[in-house]
Amino acid sequence: MSKTKSTYFCQSCGNQSSKWLGKCPACGEWNSFVEEVVSSGKEEKKPYQKNSKKPIPQSISDISFEKESRINTGMEELNRVLGGGMVSGSVILVGGEPGIGKSTLMLQMALKIKGLRILYVSGEESGRQLKMRADRIGIENQDCLILNETSTNEIFRHIGEVEPNMVVIDSIQTLHTDVLESSAGSISQIRETAAEMQKFSKITNIPVVLIGHITKDGNIAGPKILEHMVDTVLNFEGDRHYGFRILRSVKNRFGSTSELGIFEMNSSGLREVTNPSELLLSQRDENVSGVAIAAMIEGQRPMLIEVQALVGPAAYGTPQRSATGFDTRRMNMLLAVLEKRSSYKVSTKDVFLNIAGGIRVDDPAIDLAVIASVLSSAEDIPIGNNVCFAAEVGLSGEIRAVSRTEKRISEAEKLGFEKIIVSKYSLKGIEKQNYKIEIVAVKNIQDIVDELF
Ligand code: TYD
Ligand code: MG
Repeated sequence: MSKTKSTYFCQSCGNQSSKWLGKCPACGEWNSFVEEVVSSGKEEKKPYQKNSKKPIPQSISDISFEKESRINTGMEELNRVLGGGMVSGSVILVGGEPGIGKSTLMLQMALKIKGLRILYVSGEESGRQLKMRADRIGIENQDCLILNETSTNEIFRHIGEVEPNMVVIDSIQTLHTDVLESSAGSISQIRETAAEMQKFSKITNIPVVLIGHITKDGNIAGPKILEHMVDTVLNFEGDRHYGFRILRSVKNRFGSTSELGIFEMNSSGLREVTNPSELLLSQRDENVSGVAIAAMIEGQRPMLIEVQALVGPAAYGTPQRSATGFDTRRMNMLLAVLEKRSSYKVSTKDVFLNIAGGIRVDDPAIDLAVIASVLSSAEDIPIGNNVCFAAEVGLSGEIRAVSRTEKRISEAEKLGFEKIIVSKYSLKGIEKQNYKIEIVAVKNIQDIVDELF
């Protein structure tokens, strides 16, 4: 018999009710009632808690932890995004749009990890569907166990029996706990089942991966506190029309959030892209105008990315501006700077901007390449495919230094570029003669106009 009981609480004023209400009689808020568990009484032991003790306060210096507490996931890109492997006892939430490849990524990981027993719990797909997917991925693994179940009680019972080293839940929105009446996928169910999973993970030190759906506006469906409850939040994103998939860490208690993992979806699962530059630059043999290469750094990894611009006279009164893979507001700002601080005028022109490969970038070092591609397209003069750029552009038209310029220069040199244009202010400590590549330093936006044409 369950010793827990649930009530409904208004999320806005805390008013309590024994049944669900559409409008809170106390504060007048609509749709604010959410089912919550109250008075668990004496909690029954879960099957996985065979011999666990209640935690007691202890000195932080007495707490021991083993050095090897990170699990190698068998996938370099995933390890990198997690900060060097999966930490034991951590809860990882993987979000992404439907069909982007979350299940594929996690199943592939489960199949690739050697020597650990992994329980893959799927509430979305049948065992047969998962087997078909595993066949496509093409890896055999006896230690990867599949369970079709959505009730947390049952899942914990099975965990108690098979004693896995890692648990994957596909997806958190399909789970339900018996202590709540609301249907699977509701806010209260998501919160409660995630809390149960988190507790399980902390008590047993077994990592749990939760796959989560996202809503139309790109947030993980469910209460926002879901993201607070877990240790790591990863976003799996990409453009449906390109094969590339990017795994980005949004929150990570055990590593940096600036790391990117790049994958390519092909007919046999996800392929890890360990050298993104080659891939992002591959489709370019002719010298066309409107193309500039930016030397970027995402996380710890340098990569070269192609920026494409198309500039033409506005066909209708108001010029059109649109950007793919780049913040439109930032583009408008850069165009305004160009207009005001250089001899070049763009206010009557349509500007379309595209970052090749469907990759969205955050590194400000792309600014100069954006400006250069716009200028190149407007003048219809190709930049030359042996030149790249790495600098931020400020509001007064100054070309600003970016972090780790040496790393960018070395990467560009390694990939056969002959010239890199950087800010004059980022040359401190850089010996030009140590590089084969020509390093050109510019100070302001007019310099770049002069340099290019
Ligand atoms: P899936 O992992 O089911 O996505 P999610 O769990 O995020 O909803 O993604 C599957 C998509 O990937 C589907 O459109 C088919 C495609 N796919 C491949 O192209 N190659 C493969 O080897 C596999 C397994 C899937
Ligand atoms: Mg799926």
